[in-house]
Amino acid sequence: MQPGATTEQLSLDLLDQRQIDIAAIHQATGIYTATPEIEALLDQLDWPAQGCRLLDPGAGNGGFLVAALRRLDLDVNDVEEATRRVHGYEFYREAVADARRAVSAHLCERGWTSPAAWRAANEIVEDHDFLLSPVPTGIWDVIAANPPYWRLANLPAGYRIDYEAIVPAHARADLLYAYLDRSADVITRDGHIGLITADRWLLNSGSGELRRRLGTRYSVAGVHRLDAESTFYRPKTRRRGTVARVHPVSLILTPSRSGRPLGTEPFWLTPLPAVDGVPLRDIAEIRLAPWLGPDGIFIVGPDSGLPAEHLMPVVEPADIDGEAVRPARKWALATDTTEPPRAVLAHLDATLHRMPKRGRRAVRWLPPETFTGRLPLDRDAVLVPRIARRLTGIRLPAGRLPINHGLVVISGLPVESVLAMLDDPQVQAQANDLSLGIDNGYRSFTATLLRQLVIPRRHLTGVPGSRA
Ligand SMILES: C[S@@+](CC[C@H](N)C(=O)[O-])C[C@H]1O[C@@H](n2cnc3c(N)ncnc32)[C@H](O)[C@@H]1O
Repeated sequence: MQPGATTEQLSLDLLDQRQIDIAAIHQATGIYTATPEIEALLDQLDWPAQGCRLLDPGAGNGGFLVAALRRLDLDVNDVEEATRRVHGYEFYREAVADARRAVSAHLCERGWTSPAAWRAANEIVEDHDFLLSPVPTGIWDVIAANPPYWRLANLPAGYRIDYEAIVPAHARADLLYAYLDRSADVITRDGHIGLITADRWLLNSGSGELRRRLGTRYSVAGVHRLDAESTFYRPKTRRRGTVARVHPVSLILTPSRSGRPLGTEPFWLTPLPAVDGVPLRDIAEIRLAPWLGPDGIFIVGPDSGLPAEHLMPVVEPADIDGEAVRPARKWALATDTTEPPRAVLAHLDATLHRMPKRGRRAVRWLPPETFTGRLPLDRDAVLVPRIARRLTGIRLPAGRLPINHGLVVISGLPVESVLAMLDDPQVQAQANDLSLGIDNGYRSFTATLLRQLVIPRRHLTGVPGSRA
């Protein structure tokens, strides 16, 4: 507290800081849904034929609220009925004002007087934090939402303290998880949750416990992919050629067992084709290649002058030529917990200031992601480029270190067997079904996807762990 500041001044400062934090969260998460997608979701929810009271817990500029109201047969100026049936929470004041304007304008178009329309709009759109402030339970039987998504690590510090104190551990890692968890908490026992979300929570291992808990009450109905370009406006900026940052899906969480079950395992949008065999994860090691930070720190060129016994030739995606690995152009500095020689330390001390925060370690000579002892450098293995037109295995010669999250390494089986497995038409078909399409015919083959691939039994003779 500043000397001389009063208690009121302090709470005003805290309030101001909270508004700044909220503005930052809105800036990152305020991605609005196009009307056709909102209408399609309300159709799927069968609103208002099924359901009496609808909530949008992150209302933005009010798109869901207006669409939900438009479907109601309301008497003119019936503020009580309109506010009973439809409600929205939003915590960013400018968005609250936008949503109220949109609701009021819609009601005025229906012949309402301006005072009645504004009274309804002010009550329908509540300036309220859905995650950190108390929310009544058991009132809404329909939740329709495009929830915000943002990782815990990105949250502004002050907001994060309260968030971590309130949101349960299994739902904390992302605002999206917290929204799903809270929605399930507040909705009526027989209510339906309609969602337009990024698909990651269905697939990530970190959201397994959240899926398991939701799965005890809900199954998943009507799930389908949406096109990120046409579903959202004001989309997040994305760099050309990189994987789209959002892969949106639309789905309904239904309390009946009529949909597909949701559980700890990844929920694939296309159910896995029936293949008689064993998941690749049961018979092989599958790892993402390590990220070692920008070039010049743990990755050096041929003329670094550093001791050869601390250097290891690397393979990056750019070193792959068709189905072969080109000779090395760069080397990785291999260090472990013992202090490296003076030349290595001097090099690191001169360059580590360029390492982004996420790559810094308490022991300064360790790379951002440990690789020693984790990759099978002593024998050949199989590399899979994560972004490719088709699932492709490439022989990784012993002694070469794959780097960069654009590569996945499969080891623990003879290379020829793995290459034959990956080339099998039944495996290719699964990979094609499960992978996300990116731009220009490219697809994304993640380590999670590779672990799920079911290897047909004909490849398994003599393979340990396969019970073939
Ligand atoms: C992805 S946008 C969706 C807006 C709108 N429902 C739509 O789909 O067009 C999410 C909105 O939730 C708001 N929001 C984020 N966290 C919130 C919270 N804890 N409480 C209330 N609103 C929040 C953001 O400000 C943002 O406007």
